[in-house]
Amino acid sequence: MTKKPIVIGVAGGTGSGKTTVAREIYRKFKDKSILMIEQDAYYKDQTHKTMEERIKTNYDHPLAFDNDLLLEQVQKLLSYEKIEKPVYDYANHTRSKEVITVDPKEVIILEGILILEDERLRDLMDIKLFVDTDADVRIIRRLMRDIEERGRTLDSVIDQYTSVVRPMHLQFVEPTKRYADVIVPEGGQNRVAIDLMVTKIRTILEEKVIL
Ligand code: C5P
Repeated sequence: MTKKPIVIGVAGGTGSGKTTVAREIYRKFKDKSILMIEQDAYYKDQTHKTMEERIKTNYDHPLAFDNDLLLEQVQKLLSYEKIEKPVYDYANHTRSKEVITVDPKEVIILEGILILEDERLRDLMDIKLFVDTDADVRIIRRLMRDIEERGRTLDSVIDQYTSVVRPMHLQFVEPTKRYADVIVPEGGQNRVAIDLMVTKIRTILEEKVIL
């Protein structure tokens, strides 16, 4: 008999450490049955737009994401069907031609800045986390990451942060904290919170109602 997979949502601002929290939980169940879906993979396809238009896009607004596709794919995984997960290309600000085939698993982690914003996604989650890290720490991490890994300049990161990322964080990301079951301070460094989550997931896995 199959049990319904457990869905865990991990939200938090850019640079909050939510990916680290999600990866730490993932690591603990790696030998079992867990998969991770990043909301970033579901940024809307912009291949039809010019590079200039893509650069100007607000990537911190809920409408930047193709949540319909994300929802459809999570529902498939919940029915133990495989999905073709999109791959996002940060350098070109659009979806790449590749897809990754993802097999269903018992535990699904959904991670992203606005993963708790869409009620339809929230309704599928068994546990909702919000990783809460001070804005000064988040901007330092973001600067380092975007320059080292996403090919951005110092000026462009600062400009994007002050004009878009910060206001969108305050308007859309921060308010989703109210939907969280657990607020995790300082993300991936918080061993106690991660251990508590792992214990809780194990308990749900043992208790989960059989379909
Ligand atoms: O990994 P993280 O949660 O920080 O990723 C989300 C961030 O990626 C958003 O704050 C958004 O500004 C940024 N982004 C970007 N360029 C894109 C797509 C997303 O800078 N083309």
